[in-house]
Order: sequence, then structure tokens, then C-alpha cells
Amino acid sequence: MPTNTRSASGSWVRSDIKLTGKTVIITGANTGIGLETAIDLVKREARVIIACRSLERGGDAKNRILEETNCDEEKVVVKQLDLSSFESVRKFAADVNASEERLDILINNAGIMGSSVKKTSDGFEINVGVNHLGHFLLTNLLLDLIKRSAPARIVVVSSEAHKQAKRIQWDKLNTENSSSSFGKYAESKLMNILFVKELVVRLEGTNVSAYALHPGAVQTDLWNHMFDGDVSCWRSCLRCCTYPIRRVAFKTAVHGAQTSIYCAIATELANVSGKYFSDCKIASESSAAKKLEDAKRLWEVSEELTGLTLTQQTT
Ligand SMILES: NC(=O)c1ccc[n+]([C@@H]2O[C@H](COP(=O)([O-])OP(=O)(O)OC[C@H]3O[C@@H](n4cnc5c(N)ncnc54)[C@H](OP(=O)(O)O)[C@@H]3O)[C@@H](O)[C@H]2O)c1
Repeated sequence: MPTNTRSASGSWVRSDIKLTGKTVIITGANTGIGLETAIDLVKREARVIIACRSLERGGDAKNRILEETNCDEEKVVVKQLDLSSFESVRKFAADVNASEERLDILINNAGIMGSSVKKTSDGFEINVGVNHLGHFLLTNLLLDLIKRSAPARIVVVSSEAHKQAKRIQWDKLNTENSSSSFGKYAESKLMNILFVKELVVRLEGTNVSAYALHPGAVQTDLWNHMFDGDVSCWRSCLRCCTYPIRRVAFKTAVHGAQTSIYCAIATELANVSGKYFSDCKIASESSAAKKLEDAKRLWEVSEELTGLTLTQQTT
């Protein structure tokens, strides 16, 4: 494909680029945006590892991918990964590092927006723990394999919701927001972008690119989990009342997957590492997401919180 041709038209990917011989990992690929991303990349002949917290739901997703793509069974691999447990993340990464020869594309897609569970098994606030810390640890543990597979890409699914977080609350990193978990969700999505900003600094000269993105407002399970564990009458009403609006006004999961696919495959992005995307084009992140000193600080804090510093010292 000529380099001056965009791989997307509007908010849809139009490229027919193939990923033959490439290995991809997508977290949270058993449903929603992650599942549709997996289906697309398998159609492009990639071998896709779907990292799911439930092997049963992962198995169902694999069947769906096989049905939709008619690919060979070995093109889709289901592995267990619970991002709310550092032990699970370490086990998953050790398995991948031992069994895979290459990792060309890592898509950090899994996410929660509120949950009936308020803390991870390591005691961290659940939105920050799953959306940021789990993925931070995972990416770092897979980084040598990714670098050996260069040119390679790391795609991080963030959200426009990051703009609701004016800054990282360093002194309340692990504190639940008493009024709603949305505040912590927004902060975790700001962390996703800051993570990418520092990642590109650390990846300089490796031929590994990293991108953050907003998929759009997409009709997926994410919105249902927002109300998990909340039995109050008005919240139940809100869930029911907003459903028809979400069905009509929100993107489908296939449409919501387009920017993830674009960042994973577009040839014209090879030299634009570190940017934030929406609707398959570069978008503006908030000023808080541009603070490189916060990106560096977040990396250092995350190293401590995940125990990564200790891992690096002992290896
Ligand atoms: N939908 C939107 O409007 C929207 C807007 C902006 C950004 N996003 C972002 O898009 C990404 C995908 O969300 P989605 O809309 O596709 O939601 P979704 O349908 O709820 O999918 C989320 C995926 O993450 C998985 N997950 C949740 N907690 C996990 C954990 N502890 N360990 C491993 N996997 C876990 C879920 O697994 P289970 O099926 O087992 O729960 C599911 O596979 C998220 O990062 C979200 O923040 C979505």
C-alpha cells in the first residue's frame, strides 16, 4: 500500500492489509470491542491470543471467532488472565514468554467502569487496579518479547472520559471515590494515556510504537457493569431508561473496534508513536494527559505498586 494512502475512511478501517505470521494478544477479548477487534485481526490471518478472565467465556468467544472467520482452530488461543490479580498477570506473562516466539501486537483493551467488587486481590482500587496497574505490569513483563519481535505495536484502549479527571490524585491513588466510581474510571483512563507517553520515551530506538485511543461511545456490557452491585431504585431506573438511548445513539461493537484495529495495522502510523486517536485519526488529549512529568512519576509509582522494581532486580 502506498504510504500516502490512509488505511481508514472516516471512522472505518478500509485497509485490506494482512497480518500473516503475526501474533497478537488482546486483553478482554471475549466480548465487546475486544471480541470484534479479535475477529477482524483473525480475518487478516493473525494468530490471536484472547486473554480472558473466564476460560468458559473465552471458549465461547473462540467458537464465535471460528464461526465468523472460518479460520483454522490454532489461529485462536484462549488464555486465562485476571488483571485484578498480579499473580494472574505474572502467570499469564510467564506462560506467554515460555510458549511464544514472537508478539507483534499487544492490545490492552480489557476494562471496567465501576464494579460491585471495590478492590483488586492485591488491595488496589478496582478501576485503577484493572485498567492501569494490571496492564502496566502485563506490558512490562512482555516487553522483551515485544522488542524482539520489532517492528511491533502496543495499543492501549483509553477513553474520552479521561478528560473528566483533571489530574492524577497522587495522595488518593488507592482511595475509592465516595460518590461514584466514575471519577476513578476517568482517572484510570488518564493513566492509560500517561502510560503510553512514558512508554514511548522508554521504547525509543526499539522500533516498537505505542498508541492510546478512544473507541467512541459503544453499546457494550461496560455500561451494564457500571451499575453492578448498586441496588438503589434510581440507579436501576437509570440503567433501564438509558438502554434505548444507548442502543440507538451509541456505536456498535464492530464500529467501536475500528480505531483499535486502525492503530494495530495502519502502515502510516509507523512513525507517529505516542499519539491519542479517536475515529481512526489523531485526536486531542487533555492537558493533564500531556504532562510528561506526571507520565514519568506514574511509571515510577506503578513500578513500586506492582512490585516490578523487585522483579527487575531479581532477574
Ligand atoms: N463501551 C464504551 O462506550 C467505551 C468508551 C470508551 C472506552 N471504552 C474502553 O473500551 C475497552 C473495552 O470495553 P468494552 O466497551 O468492550 O466493554 P466490555 O464489553 O465490558 O468488555 C470488557 C472486557 O474486559 C474484560 N475484563 C474486565 N475485568 C477484567 C479483569 N479483571 N481481567 C481481565 N479481563 C477483564 C471483560 O471480561 P468479562 O466479560 O469477563 O467481564 C471483557 O472481556 C475498555 O478499556 C473501556 O474502558 C469503552
